[in-house]
Amino acid sequence: MSAQPDTSDAHILVSREGAIQIARFNRPDKKNAITRAMYADLNRALGDGETDDAVRCHVILGQPGAFTSGNDLADFLAFATTGEMGTEVLDLLRLLPRLQKPLVSGVDGLAIGIGTTLHMHCDLTLATERSVFKTPFVDLGLVAEAGSSLLAPAMMGHQRAFALLALGEDFTARQAADAGLIWKIADEAALEGEVMATADRLAAKPPEALALTKRLLKGDRGPLEARIAEEAELFADRLKSDEARAAFMAFMARKVS
Ligand code: COA
Repeated sequence: MSAQPDTSDAHILVSREGAIQIARFNRPDKKNAITRAMYADLNRALGDGETDDAVRCHVILGQPGAFTSGNDLADFLAFATTGEMGTEVLDLLRLLPRLQKPLVSGVDGLAIGIGTTLHMHCDLTLATERSVFKTPFVDLGLVAEAGSSLLAPAMMGHQRAFALLALGEDFTARQAADAGLIWKIADEAALEGEVMATADRLAAKPPEALALTKRLLKGDRGPLEARIAEEAELFADRLKSDEARAAFMAFMARKVS
């Protein structure tokens, strides 16, 4: 397997526990903001786990207090000024709907931007009470991504999806559970143990039957893939807009004033 070793200074830590592959965001000083390199590493880890018969379940975790603060805004500003997008983000977004093995996530604290929309591709998400799910796309001059403009209304209805994706409302863990974005709430001390116990249960099931069931529940991925592509095109245009540039620069400048 080509996943990177589990060294403490990598921003995505990849490890194995039995038949479970764990990818963990590990950039706590930046609240786990995701850089292009981190997207590439996560993509590689998930891809490796898919092709390795020894892996039966994927798990994604963050750090205490921060699942992730979303895409690195310095990267967004770089896209906005140079026009250089790279393929790392889109590569991951294209992979998510194609995963055949179950994907379980555990959230404690901040889950912003893709830190929220990622769970729409997960099969089971557990989160602590203090977690906050938020997508400030419009406030940043951007649009919804990761297929969330299709998945969220189907999951929670138009009005809650609009509150999440357009109004940029904070969703508590309870609201996220009520909206069907996450499966259930866990105590902080028990979160990762419960995530792993859930993944263990999935890993012990007959893998072919489980993969078929996941495929049936997810349905035809054609419309989702088309929506991800449509969103990505709009998103790339929006990154270069005056609205987005102003929002990124305001974030970068906020500690100076
Ligand atoms: N991109 C880049 N850096 C980020 C970041 C992001 N998305 N989120 C946080 N950081 C950095 C901060 O700049 C800060 O870095 P510094 O210590 O070098 O100044 C560090 O992480 C800690 O963040 P800070 O803002 O001091 O913590 P906080 O607890 O006051 O606020 C957030 C945390 C996440 C609410 C706030 O940082 C934030 O709003 N981030 C942007 C979230 C966002 O818009 N993401 C994109 C979604 S599409």
